[in-house]
Amino acid sequence: MTKKFWQLSPAERRVLLVDQGILTQAQADFWSTQTTLPETVLLGLSENNIGQMSLPVGVVPNVQIAGKAVTIPLATEEPSVVAAISHGFKMMSQGRTIQVVKNIHGVTGQIGLQHVSAKDLTILQDHQADLQRIGLAAHPTLTSHDGAIRQIQIKRVGQSDAAIIVTVDSGNAMGANIMNDILEAMARTVTQFTNAEVLFAVLTNDGRDSLTQLTVTVAFDQLTTKTWSGEQVAQRIQALADWAQTDPRRAVTHNKGIMNGVEAIVLATGNDTRAVNAAAHAYAAVSGQYRGLSHWHVETDGLHGEMTLPLPVGTVGGATKVLPSAQQALVLLHQPSAVQLQAIAASVGLAANLAALHALVTDGIQRGHMRLQYDSLAVRVGATAAEIAPLAAALAEADKPSETLAQQLLSQLRHKGEN
Ligand code: MEV
Repeated sequence: MTKKFWQLSPAERRVLLVDQGILTQAQADFWSTQTTLPETVLLGLSENNIGQMSLPVGVVPNVQIAGKAVTIPLATEEPSVVAAISHGFKMMSQGRTIQVVKNIHGVTGQIGLQHVSAKDLTILQDHQADLQRIGLAAHPTLTSHDGAIRQIQIKRVGQSDAAIIVTVDSGNAMGANIMNDILEAMARTVTQFTNAEVLFAVLTNDGRDSLTQLTVTVAFDQLTTKTWSGEQVAQRIQALADWAQTDPRRAVTHNKGIMNGVEAIVLATGNDTRAVNAAAHAYAAVSGQYRGLSHWHVETDGLHGEMTLPLPVGTVGGATKVLPSAQQALVLLHQPSAVQLQAIAASVGLAANLAALHALVTDGIQRGHMRLQYDSLAVRVGATAAEIAPLAAALAEADKPSETLAQQLLSQLRHKGEN
């Protein structure tokens, strides 16, 4: 019997795609050389693999968060993100450094039920202890990992529907799988003692059970530029942060800047970037209007920053344990607990945000961005490691840097080298 596409090995899939004219042999050869991860890891992570991709991982060394020094791993493809975060942390390292005001970790899920009579609703209320027992039986290791089912609520939805809302303390796990196992076990039993029909059973990515709140005070002298005093820059940062509270167009970009940092550490540690993004943007709209996630205001001792962010991450389970580089990232972070990782990730987001706002209200972002974009343009036109810096410097001097110009400058550079 011929195997289905998903049953083939990556090598067999490449051969088939070449046979079908979807890949050229050269493209298939390219994918076959991308072998950082062992095949067993690939197979354990996602389906239909034909290869893999790598991303740069940078670090910001020796950052103080809540009185502890950490070195932060960041995986990102965007030039200037790591540099901006370094700059943000440098500015934040003087005044009163990052304080963690609130840090909770958990996950909530819903079982959606249809055709729930008043009698069924009462039965469900009466069976809460049974639901709890069934939930725990579905995940007996929950309690050994310091987890627990925190709460079960039964709520009427509309005229005839109802939801069972379950909140779990998932210990150091992000908790999606734990939650879904528990919900599905409970859902199977509900149909045994009521006439209700189960429509769905899944966690919510709302994220408000894993909220982290930080504050920081940035000394004025850390904000000074050649053109502006520290106090002036602080006033301008406050004005720009306030703008993101009233204008959703600006708010979404403000929050993208925060997520530049958050997503880079979430990815480096093998966590679910989509879950963290979904939760962050939902939280940004929690007031009914989409707003900036951070606040900055000027006080007598400096610029005060505050941010509250849902961070549904974990340090055990899922890809954190399967991806070798994620394990190394956690080693670098000294094997943090889930809440410790939340505090670090939120700090990275706040640092990225401060750096972006500082650049925007002073020199603009293109100056810093472009320096790094020139490096990446140099790589794009084939510069070797030794050629990147001189070519990027030549591009920075040029009137209209472009890919064509980069190619010409690279040829000139090589020509000069030969003479
Ligand atoms: C670019 O990746 C991120 C920024 O646009 C964020 C912001 O505008 O606050 C610089």
